[in-house]
Amino acid sequence: MRWLAISRTTVLVLITVQAGAAQAAGDATRGADIFRQNCAMCHSPEPGQNLVGPSLFSVVGRAAASIASFSYSSAMKSSGIVWTADQLKAYLKAPRKYVPGVKMMFPGLTDEQDRENVVAFLATLRNAAGGGADATTQAKASRSD
Ligand code: HEC
Repeated sequence: MRWLAISRTTVLVLITVQAGAAQAAGDATRGADIFRQNCAMCHSPEPGQNLVGPSLFSVVGRAAASIASFSYSSAMKSSGIVWTADQLKAYLKAPRKYVPGVKMMFPGLTDEQDRENVVAFLATLRNAAGGGADATTQAKASRSD
């Protein structure tokens, strides 16, 4: 039975490490509420669904203005941003100051913890295999226009 005790300890260590990482990156469950209250009227979390704003499926890690079926402002197209967690937090603090001329009519999230949490939620919007961003890129590459 000794092996059982060892494997239990291992599992506990893994859980502790994961909980630590989740905390540092914000609380995705709270982030989902913030998303519903502040973003969902303009953004869908589903792939390929654009509303007033582009789908935010697999937004973390993708280049700004890379959804081919969405008509972005020239400000967003020429921003050169790649949506890392840090870039998202900076943008969401004051979108129209961070990227002047952007057509996202949202004043920003003033609370730093809210920004952490909503970005943690955005990071969950991807395929289980983590292939969301790739799928977007491939779809874009295969379009002829
Ligand atoms: C009033 C509508 C509206 C609200 C509310 C809104 N957005 Fe947007 N968002 C837009 C529009 C429109 C764009 C496209 C901007 C452009 O092209 O200039 C955009 C762009 C973005 C982008 C860049 C996407 C890309 O593909 O490059 C991100 C990220 C984003 N929004 C996140 C959020 C988050 C997170 C929230 C909530 C905290 C939010 N937005 C709230 C309308 C909105």
